Amino acid sequence: MAKTVEDRNVVRETTEAQIAVHWGEEELYHPPAKFIGQANLTDPDVNKRFSEENFPDCFQEYAEMLTWDKHWHTTLDTNEPPFWKWFVGGKLNVCYNCVDRHLAKYKNKAALICVPEPEGEAPIAITYQELFVRVNEMAALLRDFAGLKAGDRVTIHLPMLAELPITMLACARLGVIHSVVFGGFSGEACGTRVADSGSRVLITIDGYYRNGKMVDHKAGADIAVAVAAQEGHTVDKVLVWRRHPGQYASAWPMIEGRDFFVDEKLKEFSGKRVDPVSMDAEAPLFLMYTSGSTGKPKGCQHRTGGYLAYVTGTSKYIQDIHPEDVYWCMADIGWITGHSYIVYGPLALAATSVIYEGVPTYPDAGRTWRIAERLAVNIFHTSPTAIRMLRKAGVDEPTKYDIHFKHMTTVGEPIEPEVWRWYYNTVGKRQAVIVDTWWQTENGGFLCSTKPALDPMKPGSAGPGVPGIFPVIYDEMRQEVPAGSGKAGNICIRNPWPGIMQTIWNDHKRFVDVYYDKYCKNRNSKDWRDWPYFASDGAMLAADGYFRILGRVDDVINVAGHRLGTKEIESACLTVPEIAEAAVVPAVDEIKGRVPEVYICLRPGLKPSQEIVDKVTKAIETIIGKIARPKAIHIVPDMPKTRSGKLMRRVLSAITNRMNTGDITTLANPDIVEQVRELVQGKEPVVLQEGPEDLKQFGSQE
Ligand code: WT7
Repeated sequence: MAKTVEDRNVVRETTEAQIAVHWGEEELYHPPAKFIGQANLTDPDVNKRFSEENFPDCFQEYAEMLTWDKHWHTTLDTNEPPFWKWFVGGKLNVCYNCVDRHLAKYKNKAALICVPEPEGEAPIAITYQELFVRVNEMAALLRDFAGLKAGDRVTIHLPMLAELPITMLACARLGVIHSVVFGGFSGEACGTRVADSGSRVLITIDGYYRNGKMVDHKAGADIAVAVAAQEGHTVDKVLVWRRHPGQYASAWPMIEGRDFFVDEKLKEFSGKRVDPVSMDAEAPLFLMYTSGSTGKPKGCQHRTGGYLAYVTGTSKYIQDIHPEDVYWCMADIGWITGHSYIVYGPLALAATSVIYEGVPTYPDAGRTWRIAERLAVNIFHTSPTAIRMLRKAGVDEPTKYDIHFKHMTTVGEPIEPEVWRWYYNTVGKRQAVIVDTWWQTENGGFLCSTKPALDPMKPGSAGPGVPGIFPVIYDEMRQEVPAGSGKAGNICIRNPWPGIMQTIWNDHKRFVDVYYDKYCKNRNSKDWRDWPYFASDGAMLAADGYFRILGRVDDVINVAGHRLGTKEIESACLTVPEIAEAAVVPAVDEIKGRVPEVYICLRPGLKPSQEIVDKVTKAIETIIGKIARPKAIHIVPDMPKTRSGKLMRRVLSAITNRMNTGDITTLANPDIVEQVRELVQGKEPVVLQEGPEDLKQFGSQE
């Protein structure tokens, strides 16, 4: 996606992003008095404290929420843009901040409450004291058995069980950099991440419950090790947790000398204590891989001090977490939301964080609400996809349970105002405040959101920048799009913040190209004002300063709030020998927002068949995972292309979503468009719709 300077300065025709967006303003909802009465952040002065004049020192307020071994000497070092350094000179340990420091006051309070999917198994509360014991024992195992030390990388492929945060915190205790791969990713996807991060240790589990069945998860580890080996990388040890200690549930054999049961090995470290390693504020804490415009996922490298300060500050002010709260973020820890807002932020604040193993609607539509009722959850955090799914499964279901949320969050995708209103009226019973938080894997924590006790809510809009974040919308001509203009453009953040990633693991150039190349004002400048961060999202700014996020402007499809690269899926398709060409586009989906749809051309002489279609589905599932399963696969005679041979995904996306294909006369093969359209939609042209804004922009930044 990186463009050359020449390319950027070319005067282009008006893009979709500049075309006025017609969208009615929604009415405002005000935070309930009861919520305001107990909120962490009620002082309107916060806007002044975190104003541009007080940048970057304002962020010391977040850093001071932590316990430091050594105080920092420089809040923000801008000497090597855009590689910003935060709280330089400071030293701290993340695990100490999330566990040890709470023992004096909260040792008997639940840190984690883990809810198994089988409803017959009771929830398991792990107190801060118990968490301390388990994390220490695991840290001892990682150090003394696996030979890991500060700076080493470890890949963790675990589902939503206590073992996951325990393993992460044990790594953080040692300064070992963890790279958690979402449990739903395939073994192959895990293997490429193992190789890229250079992890010599892979941590997995035999199985876990999902939708009433025990999933064989160990299989993924064996495939991952083999895939990493193909890339020339050796994994020395595979540490295998067991869902039921002592009973092995996987059909895949343990490999002698390589695979070890964690529950067995832990016995040797019973009662062991490991001193937390004092880390530099700038030492990497973890990697989190995410999809971008090219085929290869990016390892977003997050720092120790700035990251923890940022997630702690935003958990306190935006999530309104107090130690007394029961907080349930129904995301997966394998995504950034889970890292920041299930594990690190809430635990740094001594909260009780709920972890649910399974599917929100298993065994029925009431499950989510039964968990919330039983545990007396008062802060609930989820995605629009989950909200749509729960609403569809049981529109009145929440009213049947004694649930009382004071605060609810939506994150990951734009939320339709009518879905927002169901969340507010039926789930929140009009007593909860809602925050719609916009941010990305790269960002560490929230970028736009209302401040829950201070700002009114507007359905469908994320809100203004959170304290200390100054967003701006630029058009393709690099001009600022003013508030209230009714025009969409590219949302950027004008300033650095402590939660921003440090770099892309092993690829500093790509980091600069992807996020800073497009709007950098002066490459030689050491002034942060010259280096806006380009988020790759289209957005609009209303007159009241609220941002409405429209969606990705690059080749990334947001499936149920999870990022998938079109090019990653396309390369998976191309591993099927019969396929000559593949194009992947986003299709609108009622529940998941967007779902990939695949177009393929066969090699000459081959005939379309269901068998080929099945092979493509299988390839996508094994190379990426079931989350990337396409909505449809169309075998077409040819792809629409420009004269220079560029594949026009935008035209295919228009066909998939029954939108106007726009001007196709400049294509090398304009006739193919009608042929493909007929194949997909049938003889009669389907009535053209307005279509969602992000789809109009799809492919415009290629
Ligand atoms: C992309 C980032 C970090 C949260 C989980 C997703 C979209 C995120 C919102 C929101 C509209 C949103 C954007 C963004 N997105 N939050 N509140 N409203 N869109 O992290 O996988 O890195 O995806 O999710 O398109 O770029 P991610």
